[in-house]
Parts: sequence; C-alpha cells; structure tokens
Amino acid sequence: MKNILITGGAGYKGVLLADELLRLGHKVTILDNFMYGYDSILHLIQNPNLSIKKVDIRNLKEDDVSGFGIIYHLAGISGMPACANNPHSAESINVESVRLLVSLMSADQLLINASTTSMYGFSNTICHEESIIEPVSIYGKTKLVSENIVQSRANSISLRFATVFGISPKMRHDLMVNDFAYKAIVDRSLILFAGDTKRTFIHINDAIRAYIFAMDNSDVMKGGIYNVGSNDMNLSKKEIASSIAKYAKFELIESTLPDYDKRNFEISFNKINKIGFTTKYTLDDGILDLIKVYSYYIQYIPYKII
Ligand SMILES: NC(=O)c1ccc[n+]([C@@H]2O[C@H](COP(=O)([O-])OP(=O)(O)OC[C@H]3O[C@@H](n4cnc5c(N)ncnc54)[C@H](O)[C@@H]3O)[C@@H](O)[C@H]2O)c1
Repeated sequence: MKNILITGGAGYKGVLLADELLRLGHKVTILDNFMYGYDSILHLIQNPNLSIKKVDIRNLKEDDVSGFGIIYHLAGISGMPACANNPHSAESINVESVRLLVSLMSADQLLINASTTSMYGFSNTICHEESIIEPVSIYGKTKLVSENIVQSRANSISLRFATVFGISPKMRHDLMVNDFAYKAIVDRSLILFAGDTKRTFIHINDAIRAYIFAMDNSDVMKGGIYNVGSNDMNLSKKEIASSIAKYAKFELIESTLPDYDKRNFEISFNKINKIGFTTKYTLDDGILDLIKVYSYYIQYIPYKII
C-alpha cells in the first residue's frame, strides 16, 4: 500500500485517478480548493483509505506534502479558455504554486506531473518530446514553465497528455470532443472553425491508465517527459465531427472565419509506446458515453434560451 497525494484530486481527471488508486488498495489524500464544489468526490467518502485536505495550492505548507511517497500534481487552471480568462490565476496557480510545491518536497518523493500536449502550439512537423516548443496560449506557456520547474528535480515524471475526452463525476464540457458532442446533441448544430486543423486526443480511462503506468514504471520513467496518447488519434476537427455524425443527426456548418484557437499539431507517442504503454479505448467509446449523457443533460447557462 502506497501513501499518495493527488493535488486537484476533485477535478475531471483527479477524481477518477483517486477512484482507481483506492481500488488498487492505496492510501489516497485528495488536496483541492474545491472551486468546482464537493459533489465529484462524495461517492468515495466511505472509503477508509481516503483523506481530504481543503487547501489552496498557493498556500501549501510542508505539512501538506510530507509523508507521501508519491505526489500526483493535477491542480491547476486547466485549458486554454480558462487561462485566457484568468491570466493572473494561471500564472500564480500553474507556475508559482508548482515552484512552491517542488521547494517543499524531499528528494525521495516521486512527483508525477499533469503536463499537456497543448504546449506544442502550432507545428508543421510531427512533434516529439525533444521538439522545440513554442506555445500559442497562456495555458501552454504556463504549463511549459511549470514542467521545467518539475523536471529540475530528478525524481519527477511529466506526462504531456493529449486532450482528454469522456465522462467523469466532475465533467468538463469545454474539452473539444465533449464540447462537439454537446453541441451536436443539445444544440443540434456545430460550427467548425479551421476544421482541418489537427490536435490529439485520449479517452479518460486511458489517461488514468497512464498515471498508474507512470507509478508502476517510475524506475524507468523518472527524470523523463512523455507524450501520452496514441498515434492513431491525431485527428482534425472535421474528423471528430464526422465520428459524432455516425451516431447523431446535427447540422454541421463549416465557417471560413479563422479560429481564435491557433493550436494545430501532430504528435508522436513512440517514446511511451516503446516502454509498453498503449491506449485501449477508442474515440467512438467516448462519443457513445457522451451521447448517453448529453441526451438527458443540459448545462445551466444563464440567458441562453434552449
Ligand atoms: N483534461 C485534459 O484534457 C488535460 C490534458 C492535458 C493536461 N491536463 C492537465 O491535467 C490537470 C487536471 O486537469 P483536469 O482536466 O482534471 O482539470 P480540472 O479543472 O477538472 O481539475 C483541476 C482541479 O484543480 C483544482 N484547483 C484549481 N486551482 C487550485 C488551487 N489553487 N488550489 C487547489 N486546487 C486547485 C480544481 O478545484 C480542480 O478540482 C491540469 O493540470 C491540466 O492542465 C488536462
């Protein structure tokens, strides 16, 4: 049994990671400021191996991090729009708090960091871990700086995740596949800007498998940075929309206006594949789950008439 801390453990990925680590018999502490509420973790409360710390990572103290063999760092302002709307929080939470976290950790504690392929920004070649990176968003920039801070210590692993899709007790409707599925089902129309631009995607179950894989293979992986996803899931926005269209009837409008989001890249996942990690879940697996949920769920957005 390992003693594990998850910062951001009440979030979209964090709560499923906590769930899986508890299922595997580990002792888990969720540290979160619960800015999105408490509901996502209520189903875990009865597990005696779960502890909870309501802490803002900007105010971390040594006590909050000591005693844990492994720290998964997921807390942050996650995603391009959230960071663009809160640039100061993005800087203080995504960068300065990571500096603080690293300064409080001892050398024997393993740090597994939630990094992102979003930092690859705009590229005409297939990106790999050693590619020169020029992020095009505040999100990508802050995550790159924080990754450098994390990797300045030897006992760290950074996982650069593809954009995640699928269902979690703490939903994120803003992620591209989730957002497109929502618009297809609820709005019955989807406007595509820059439909040929490409990004890379991963099912949430595979993202959780990758976190566990990093813990189990830390001897090989520590000191390293790994893209996490699948070479088969470098997909354009049009391809995502077509996959949803196999299961749902909606109007697809292809706009000739440019997208505010300039990200466009293809990624190689060969490095993590070579040490034995491959994804198991398909885009269609995620889309079918999303359609199930969005067939009955409508977000409450004030002033939006539906
Ligand atoms: N979801 C993706 O597609 C994706 C892809 C690549 C990387 N990531 C990274 O994975 C991590 C988790 O992403 P997610 O999708 O679960 O996001 P999320 O927003 O659902 O979860 C983030 C969690 O961090 C917590 N948090 C935010 N600020 C905090 C603070 N100051 N103190 C304490 N807790 C705080 C939030 O309450 C939330 O529970 C993030 O670091 C994100 O950058 C996500």
